[in-house]
Formats: sequence, structure tokens, C-alpha cells
Amino acid sequence: MDNFYRVGAEQDLGTPASGNTELIGLYIDGCEIAVPVGTSVMRAAALAGTQIPKLCATEDLEAFGSCRLCLVEIEGRPGHPASCTTLAEEGMSVRTQSPRLEELRRNVMELYISDHPLDCLTCAANGDCELQDMAGVVGLREVRYGDTGANHLAKAKDETAPYFSFDPAKCIVCSRCVRACEEQQGTFALTIEGRGFDSQVVASQADDFIDSECVSCGACVKACPTATLIEKSVVEQGQPTSAVITTCAYCGVGCSFRAELQGDQLVRMVPNRDGHANHGHACVKGRFAFGYASHPDRITTPMIRDSIHDPWQKVSWDEAITHAAQRLQAIQKQYGRKSIGGITSSRCTNEEVYLVQKFVRAAMGNNNVDTCARVCHSPTGYGLKTTLGESAGTQTFDSVMQADVIMVIGSNPTTAHPVFASQMKRRLRQGAGLIVVDPRAIELVNSPHVRADHHLQLRPGTNVAVINALAHTIITEGLEDKDFIAERCEDEAYQVWRTFISQQGNSPEALAEITGVDAETVRAAARLYANAPNGAIYYGLGVTEHSQGSTMVMGIANLAMATGNLGREGVGVNPLRGQNNVQGSCDMGSFPHELPGYRHLSDATTRELFEKEWQVSLDPEPGYRIPNMFDAAVAGEYKGLYIQGEDVAQSDPDIHHVHAALSAMECVIVQDLFLNETAKFAHVFLPGSSFLEKDGTFTNAERRISPVRKVMEPLSGMAEWEVTAALSKAMGYEMHYRHPSEIMDEIARLTPTFRNVSYAKLDEMGSIQWPCNADHPDGTPFMHEGEFVRGKGFFAPTPYVASDERCNSKYPLLLTTGRSLSQYNVGAQTRRTENMLFHNEDRIEIHPTDAETRGISDGGWVGIKSRAGDTVLRALVTDRVQPGVVYTTFHHPESGANVVTTDNSDWATNCPEYKVTAVQAYPVSQPGDWQDSFKRVDKEQRELLEAARS
Ligand code: SF4
Ligand code: SF4
Ligand code: SF4
Ligand code: FES
Repeated sequence: MDNFYRVGAEQDLGTPASGNTELIGLYIDGCEIAVPVGTSVMRAAALAGTQIPKLCATEDLEAFGSCRLCLVEIEGRPGHPASCTTLAEEGMSVRTQSPRLEELRRNVMELYISDHPLDCLTCAANGDCELQDMAGVVGLREVRYGDTGANHLAKAKDETAPYFSFDPAKCIVCSRCVRACEEQQGTFALTIEGRGFDSQVVASQADDFIDSECVSCGACVKACPTATLIEKSVVEQGQPTSAVITTCAYCGVGCSFRAELQGDQLVRMVPNRDGHANHGHACVKGRFAFGYASHPDRITTPMIRDSIHDPWQKVSWDEAITHAAQRLQAIQKQYGRKSIGGITSSRCTNEEVYLVQKFVRAAMGNNNVDTCARVCHSPTGYGLKTTLGESAGTQTFDSVMQADVIMVIGSNPTTAHPVFASQMKRRLRQGAGLIVVDPRAIELVNSPHVRADHHLQLRPGTNVAVINALAHTIITEGLEDKDFIAERCEDEAYQVWRTFISQQGNSPEALAEITGVDAETVRAAARLYANAPNGAIYYGLGVTEHSQGSTMVMGIANLAMATGNLGREGVGVNPLRGQNNVQGSCDMGSFPHELPGYRHLSDATTRELFEKEWQVSLDPEPGYRIPNMFDAAVAGEYKGLYIQGEDVAQSDPDIHHVHAALSAMECVIVQDLFLNETAKFAHVFLPGSSFLEKDGTFTNAERRISPVRKVMEPLSGMAEWEVTAALSKAMGYEMHYRHPSEIMDEIARLTPTFRNVSYAKLDEMGSIQWPCNADHPDGTPFMHEGEFVRGKGFFAPTPYVASDERCNSKYPLLLTTGRSLSQYNVGAQTRRTENMLFHNEDRIEIHPTDAETRGISDGGWVGIKSRAGDTVLRALVTDRVQPGVVYTTFHHPESGANVVTTDNSDWATNCPEYKVTAVQAYPVSQPGDWQDSFKRVDKEQRELLEAARS
């Protein structure tokens, strides 16, 4: 167990840090302490080592001052002010304990306890209840009011939410839950209803939690000082006894968590207050949806088979690895060195990804390695590298708190990046302007206390036309930042771009018919963004997953450069990464043309560096991208594939083509937790380990490298990095690592932007934003300060080219895709949790007008047909989508969302054009051919798996 990083309890200083750097001095019980201006007396006392009794205050929320337990005496002031709402002042002298204070506090506690069930010994919060603690602290020994008066003790529990229960009998109406839902989460699902004795917490006008606006983020549960709101896992298992700090394995926000345990049993995941990306907040996935890690579907023994129609055979690790290596070597002997390759996953750690690309280059002897970022953010890499010189977002998440205008393009943060969305909403509630560029009316367009100033509801596929119209307005109305451009950008390229963008053809008026957005709205949005002291752009897959994805990323960078919105806090160009380690998997060199750190293979000096470290000759020729691998497989030239943690048979476009490619291969090796869709085509299955079972690092959308710490031993007995190393050794290339920290040390040696990164540094700092090297020894919160990474910023021309995917009378609707809050990507993890209660099927959203003209009713079956294929989904009739546009999620394999998406892709990177598919929609009476074939294959493969299990 010496490998485990156990930590102590989280401290709560009572009120938030002020954020000020100027210090003042005061006295707490005679002890002098210096604290930042704006610090509460309560926090100052806690910093001085004195915990003032409290109930309604917590460090995560603004002080409220309702419980009156935290009273203090201040020299020269009358009465007993609440220490949570009183700010420390220079020279102030505070007394936290006196006979009078004792009496007042006991009186308060007496009132609380007189209306509280005294079942402490059998209460689930026993040992973690602030009410119980405070009763002890104030020395409560009797309750004078008896138990015959009116009380709330008979109130019924609400057990409807899957992960936590609500027991109003235990509520002390401190309002922490209500404030957490408002301040931290921004959902406003809770309220205090009634007055005085009748005050009670209710979820959305007295609905059950499950029927309310609640999104199960758990902020209220963490905030609750009693057992009123409590995790069901704690009720079932008891209080945790130790904790390990680790990082969420779901989205690119990269929230830090305390994995709280009893022994090696995980009891709950609590968002870490010291987490730099999340500051103690979480969403339903990271907070609660970890049950998949111990789901009975987990496969923990290696398996092999000759054909995909054979039953699986369980084998030892040695047999599996020897078998896999021999199959790959035999294929190379017969079909050539380049007939095999590997796919890395953005769900895996940096160390695992690095090792797979090293394995492909050093042991397979080619560069056929690609990552799932190919199908999401590869245009970000290309576009930002071309214009700014670095393939990464420019800011910290916290930077949004200094933005005056926020532009969200092709991203739905409240579902895909919920914790960052909560932070963004906080800034919006403070008054920042908001521009949303999206074909759908996403939640940010109009939600409690947030309303977009402008919603540019464009037609799917016309992003570049919109960004050009915005830039045209800025340039032709003289709103550009001339000084910034002159000082920071290449003049020649700027002049070319300026001439191009000023053309009348790029005006909002000329493009309105194409984009569907009226010219005045575009002009107003452009003025709002350009005139903001700080304008920040956030974008997602609605930008990249287009045939002009790379062009659009460059268009966004152009807009930011033209307005001087780069190189400081509050501004920037910020790609919101979908999976937890998309940034990292790209950084680690899992592209067929680039070594770690985005260095092109053709550069002999870089190649030599790696050759010397790895003691091997590298092929200077770039390898296959994922779509090329599939094309070559169908053509009979590509025969073997090692896929770690990725489910291409569900996630990639034009699924029939992917299935044909996988079926054509002779050795498909899948390393995963479950028999996913791709494993149904596999010949070797190597069990993977969940994020709870490994040490490593993830890099989030802010370039933040965060530690992933082993909470329990791998169920299969081997961590992924050990398996990759063993496979490499069996292929004749030995790797010598004893721990993932040594892999990171190698990455740091070979990658200039990671030079100062180490596990010791991560332990010291908690997390680090790269570049972290001699120039930036503690990392880089925001990039391009003073100078772009490439030197001068490059304005790239961005002519709008319509997608080949056109509507016509046969395919009159445009299908676009996205994610739900509670499911994650292909759903392999979240479908094996209680999150199924929130989202158990992918539906097709269709506008009421389109539904009516087709005779489609809400909930009815709808056939969706494109040029690539057809499937059947149930309808969700909603005006969230505009007429002519339909939308679906892709979390459930039986939906076949990617049966209909085409193989069109971004011109520069091959990123698929998931967001634009011309389709027809029509009512049908039942699921279709895809569902039949899915069920048939699924049944066969489950039976073949059962043969191995029995
Ligand atoms: S779980 Fe989150 S969304 Fe639901 S009521 Fe609590 S704070 Fe609000
Ligand atoms: S549910 Fe908990 S946090 Fe909310 S008011 Fe009651 S005791 Fe306070
Ligand atoms: S899924 Fe994303 S937002 Fe949710 S807890 Fe995990 S990292 Fe945070
Ligand atoms: S903790 Fe200060 S009033 Fe409740």
C-alpha cells in the first residue's frame, strides 16, 4: 500500500478567500495575525488556528449570517456581531470566547436541537455532522423546551434522486444548500419556502428532487452540515476513513476530487476545494457516476480468439501478450512493416498515451499511431498552431472571471463542461455580456439569471461565414485594435487578410442568406465583442467537427488577434476539450506526423533526440491517420491494430465503413474495461484499469497537468502502462520503467514544454499548466503574453466554402449532434451507472413545424436516413432546434447515430464532419434494420463472452 497517496481531512475556513493581496493586521484572542483585506473575522480566526463555532457558513459560499452561532466580541463595538459577515479591520481586537458568548451560542444550539431527531448514533452523518460537532463545541448539556411542542420530525424523506437522499426532518434551514445551488452550480433548483417555523427547503416548487430542475451536481449535498442531504453511498457504507486526491476521468474540465474510502472500498467522490480547475465543485458524472468501475460487466482476465465468431478463451497475461505479439509480428512478416498500428485514447493518462505512441514507433517500426482527438479537436491543433504558434487553449478557467464579454461558439458548456459552465454563469450573473453562436438554443441562451445578449442561430455548416461576417464588421467599422495588430502580428499576412475580410462578400448582409442569421444581429454581436475591454472566446466540437473545422479555428484566432484579445487574463481563444485528456493525448505525440510536443517527424534534429533516448531508428515517414487505417484495412493492406481505451466502432463516423474495416483485419487488440462495440471485432482482449486503479496524469483544456492517483489496485492485476511495456518487450523492444513517474521524467527530458514537470513538482503544486520549463518554472496560466509562441501572430485567410454535404429534396434536413449532461461520450461508463435514470436513450430533436409536416409526434419512432445509412430514433419535438435542423446525442450504440454520419471531413486534419449530415426524417412504427443488426451482433458477442466466463 506504499503506493497510495493518502491525505487528511479537508479544512473549512468558514468564508471564501478575499482574493486581495494587501494585508492588514488584527488580534484574535490576543494573537496578532495578518490577513488579506476583505477577509472575514471568522476566516482570520481560522487562519490564526481558532475555529469559531458556525453552522450557516462554509468556505465554499458567501457569508450569509443566519444561524447566529458565530458571534464574537470586538473591542470598542457594542453587541455581538456575527464573525462570518464581519470583515477584519486594521488593529481590530476580537474575542472569540467569553461567558456571554457561551450562553448565547448554547441558546442558539438549544433551539436547533429542540427540533432535531436525536438519533445521532444511528444517523448516517454520525462523525461528519456539523450540528453534532457544534453541540459538542458549545457544551450543550440540556434542552429546556421538551419534545412536545410543534416540530418537523415527522416529515417524509425524499429518496427520488439516485445518488443522495433528502430528509427534511433533519434540516436546520441554514440555507447552505440553496446558496450552493445558486452560487456554485447556478441552477437555482432549491428555495426556502414559507416563513418562520414553516420555512422549509423545497426543490422547484415542492416537486420531488427527481422531477425538479436539479441536475444532481451534489453541491448542496457537500454544503449540507447535517444528514439532511447525504450521499446514499455513505448511508449504505458508512463514513469514509481516508482519502486520495485524484482527477476526474470524464470531461476536459479536469476536476480534482478526494476519493474517500474505507480501506480500499470507495465510499464517495468529493470535489476538492483546492482543485485549481474546479474549486470544490463537480457535476453528476465525476461526483457520482463511478459505479462502472466495479460493475459486473468489467472484464478482468485477458482473452483471445482466432475469429470474431469464436468463443473467447480466458488466458494468462503472459499467454495473451505472447499471442498478441506473435500475431502482430506474423502480420508484419506477411504484409509488411506498415500493415499494423495503434490508436491511443484521450481517456487514458499522458503516460499511457506516450507509451503507446512509443510502442508503435519503436516496436512496430512505423508511425501508424493516431488518437481519438482526430475525431474531435485535431483542427484546434492545426488552426491554433498556424495562427498563434501553439496547439492549445490560451487561458485558465479562472480567467473567465475577468472577461467582460464571452462568446461561446459551437459548444454547450452546461452539458459538456458543466463545472466550467457554472463558473461562466457566475461571471454572467455579475454582468458580463454573452454571445452564443449555435444552431440550437442551448441552455446558456436563456436560463435562470442568464440570458444571451445575442444568439446567432446559424445553419449548421456555416460557421466560417459567420466568423467572417463578424470580422468584416469589426474591420470595416474600424473596431480593430490597431496597436495590438501593429505590434504583435505579421503585417503582410494581416494586410492580405484585411483586404480579404473587407470584401463585400464577407459582409453580414451578403452572408445572411447562407448563415440564416440576420445582418443586424451579427453586427451587434461584433460590436459587443470588439468594444469589450476583455473579450473571451470559448468553443467546442461545433467548431471543429466540420469540413472547414481548421478554417474556423483560424477564423476565431483571427478575430481575437484583430481585437487584441490575447496575451492577458480575461481574454483568449479557449477550446473546450470533450474527453478528460484530449489535450494530453495530443501533447504526447499520438499523431502520425508528430512526436511529443507537436514536433514534426520530418525534423531530423527532433528525430535524433528521440532516437538517442529510445535507442532505435525512427521511420521519418508519417503514418496513417485513423480514417486512412480504415480505408487501408478495407483495401486489404492494413491488418493489425492495438486500440487502447477507444471505441471506434461506436464513436467514429460512417459506422458501416468502420465495421467493414475492423472485420477485414486479422488481429484487432482491444484494451478496455468492457466488451465495448470495438471489442466485438477483437481477437485479443486485454483488460484495462479504471482511473481509480492507476497512477498518472491528465491534461485538461487549460493545459493543466493534474495527478491521477491510484485509489485501489488494478482489478486485472496489471496497469495499462505495464501491459503496453510487456507487449513491446514481446515484440522485441524492451522498456525499462518501474513507475509512471519515470515515464513522465522521460517526457520531460524530451519535451521542451514539459521540461520542469515531475511527480514531485505536481505534489508540490497540485497541478501545473504547461509550458513548464526554465522560462516558466511554475507553469503558464495564460499564453502569448507580450509575444506569440510563433513570434508574430499570423492572420490566415478564411474563405467560406460550403460543405459537400448539401440538403436537397431527398435529404431536406440538417442533422447535428451533441452530448447530454449525464452521459459521457459513447456511454460505456455512464450507461453502467444510475445516470441511466436521467438519460436512457438518444432521441432526435425536431422542430414542431418539421414534425407536424411529417406527421411525427413527440415520443414516436422516427426513421432518419442519410446518404451513408439509416437508423430509427424516438422523437423529441422541441423548438430548441430551428426548423430545418434536427439534433441527437450519440451515447447509446443501439441508436446508430453514427450510422447516418458521413465520411466527409476537415480539409486539413480529416476530423469528421459530424455536425452536418443531410437527412430525411419520417415516422415509422418500430425500430429499424440497424437496431435489428445491432441486437443480433450484440447477442452473439455476449454469448461468446459468456462462454469464457462460465
Ligand atoms: S444537486 Fe446540484 S442542482 Fe441539484 S439541488 Fe443540489 S446543488 Fe442544485
Ligand atoms: S438541507 Fe442541509 S444545507 Fe439545506 S437548509 Fe437544511 S440543513 Fe441546511
Ligand atoms: S465530468 Fe467534467 S465537469 Fe464533471 S466532475 Fe468530471 S471533470 Fe468535472
Ligand atoms: S456561521 Fe455566522 S451566522 Fe451562521
